[in-house]
Amino acid sequence: MSNQSLTIAMPKGRIFEEAADLLRKAGYKLPQEFDESRKLILEVPEENLRFILAKPTDVTTYVEHGVADAGIAGKDVMLEEERDVYEVLDLKISACYLAVAGLPGTGMNEVAPKVATKYPNIASSYFREQGEQVEIIKLNGSIELAPLIGLADRIVDIVSTGQTLKENGLAEFQHICDITSRLIVNPVSYRMKDQRLDDLVNRLSSIIEGN
Ligand code: PRP
Repeated sequence: MSNQSLTIAMPKGRIFEEAADLLRKAGYKLPQEFDESRKLILEVPEENLRFILAKPTDVTTYVEHGVADAGIAGKDVMLEEERDVYEVLDLKISACYLAVAGLPGTGMNEVAPKVATKYPNIASSYFREQGEQVEIIKLNGSIELAPLIGLADRIVDIVSTGQTLKENGLAEFQHICDITSRLIVNPVSYRMKDQRLDDLVNRLSSIIEGN
């Protein structure tokens, strides 16, 4: 098999550990340094692999621009942004879902209901499909704050364990869609490095199917 070098964009934070674990199970020898280092570029010469560690929402940008051949991105990011990348595999890790939540017992303000979210496109199309006109307020984090301090009637956000909603006294009103992490590939790399990428996909698939 060809041994072209491969650059993979990994998401820092929550998904990282599960993604690294999956790669190790698929037989890639990743050094311990991988988990502990603050380095942003990690070379694994024995595997002819290079990893770049990016913010989860930036992984698609690195892959779309071709500075990474492949990457691991949440389906939430894929749904929110239209990117010119191929989604080649559902890694079935970091499972969570997108939901509409708010203060229990409260309705939507009838005049101009406000929805706070990190996902303006997903939220807009969801409420459009429901036939509800809303004003979207884009936030970058701590979305659960918005209904607590009167910024919004509802939020659209990720629910994983449900702990954040619970601890902030919020209720879930609607389930929008399930989310998992995906392996994404740059379209040019997909053609130029097909053997290495096929090998990556096959090795990951056999682990995922066995799980
Ligand atoms: C995410 C999400 C929720 C929380 C859900 O936020 O936006 O706030 O996790 O997880 P849970 O259901 O297990 O409580 P994250 O911690 O990524 O940070 P953020 O608030 O900066 O978006």
